Amino acid sequence: MNHVLSDLSGKIKENAIDAYMDSIQTSAADPVYFSVGMPNGAMIPKKPLQECMNAIFDTGPPGLYQYCGAKGFEPFLSVIAKKENIPEKYVMATNGNTQGFDLVCRMLLNERDGFAVEQYTYSIALSAIHQHQLQAVCIPLEHDGMDVDFLEKALQEKSLKALYIIPNAQNPTGVTTSLQKRKRIIELAYQYDFTIIEDDPYRDLLFHDRPPSLFELDPMKEKVIYLYSFSKIIAPAMRTGFILAHPFFLQKLEQFKQVQDACTSPFNQMLAGTLIASEAWPATLEKQKRFYEKRKAWTKQFLRHMNETEQWTAVEPAGGLFYWADVGKKDVREWMGIAAEDGVIFVPGNAFTMEETPSTKIRLCFAFCSDEEMGKGFMRLEESFRKWKNIRTGKG
Ligand SMILES: Cc1ncc(COP(=O)(O)O)c(C=O)c1O
Repeated sequence: MNHVLSDLSGKIKENAIDAYMDSIQTSAADPVYFSVGMPNGAMIPKKPLQECMNAIFDTGPPGLYQYCGAKGFEPFLSVIAKKENIPEKYVMATNGNTQGFDLVCRMLLNERDGFAVEQYTYSIALSAIHQHQLQAVCIPLEHDGMDVDFLEKALQEKSLKALYIIPNAQNPTGVTTSLQKRKRIIELAYQYDFTIIEDDPYRDLLFHDRPPSLFELDPMKEKVIYLYSFSKIIAPAMRTGFILAHPFFLQKLEQFKQVQDACTSPFNQMLAGTLIASEAWPATLEKQKRFYEKRKAWTKQFLRHMNETEQWTAVEPAGGLFYWADVGKKDVREWMGIAAEDGVIFVPGNAFTMEETPSTKIRLCFAFCSDEEMGKGFMRLEESFRKWKNIRTGKG
């Protein structure tokens, strides 16, 4: 049946995480999923959402039930503009950052354009790079963000049209880019004339300080397109976020969005806008941060134990949902199958990179599981790792 498909259909392939998850099997009755990058169910603000929903039904504007413009629903745009301290003409609603990223790729990039990404990055962004047939250059990641000297050398050698960066509590590595590096990246963008796509769904889950965004640091607002999503702090099911960008970009992005889905649901925009503007919101967000910080501390304790016994290494994340651990042995994809059979699932490092070489790294999401699952999952990780090690050394 392939002849019925477009050329593009022939080029695209399954997302790496989906492919890895499809490849494993478990006979455990109660598998533990450290692989799922979603908020904890208990952290979804259901009650405040319900209250906002009732208020919207009672008093919401009539346009709520109709299409709105592709730029977004006015009451939502005005809440965001106020919160982000930027004129409304710089704000546009999206169905979240996955859509935001795709729209921006459509607007900026042609097939075979040079495109810089962090060495490890969001797996759907890698799928989009593949779909848009971009020539990706992977910039190594350090504990405080990408290696900017490497980026500059790459810019000297090759024309790079855009850079994709997840600056806070990066997925998958948990790295937060330092202020110094943020400033340097902006300088490079002006010097070498490339556009920065700043994907920032974890900024409000930083446990303590939040550095200024690259968008905020951009003096002319001409080099950064900023993507924000409510998926991690309200619910992935909201499918709502926003773009902050120069009106020059927004006018084009609106045209692309109109063709994709006409507009983001005004109802969802109203709900998200009402919730984040409500009095209850700061405490709701604070509760999430403290919950995830405790989870991070628990995972750190486990990883310290694994460091002492098996020399695993990991850099502590400043926020977000993920810990990235280097177990020092490759190929973790072999271990993944053994671990799954033992009832614990993680994502191997290869899912987050264009590099083909076998990885020694794994991503653990410490957010999604219940407390009981966390404890069980850590035990299973340790046991299955030993099993794998014994097989590798011929003792199994
Ligand atoms: C870096 C990054 N960008 C985008 C997304 C997806 O965002 P959304 O649900 O807003 O499409 C995720 C979700 O895991 C992510 O980690």
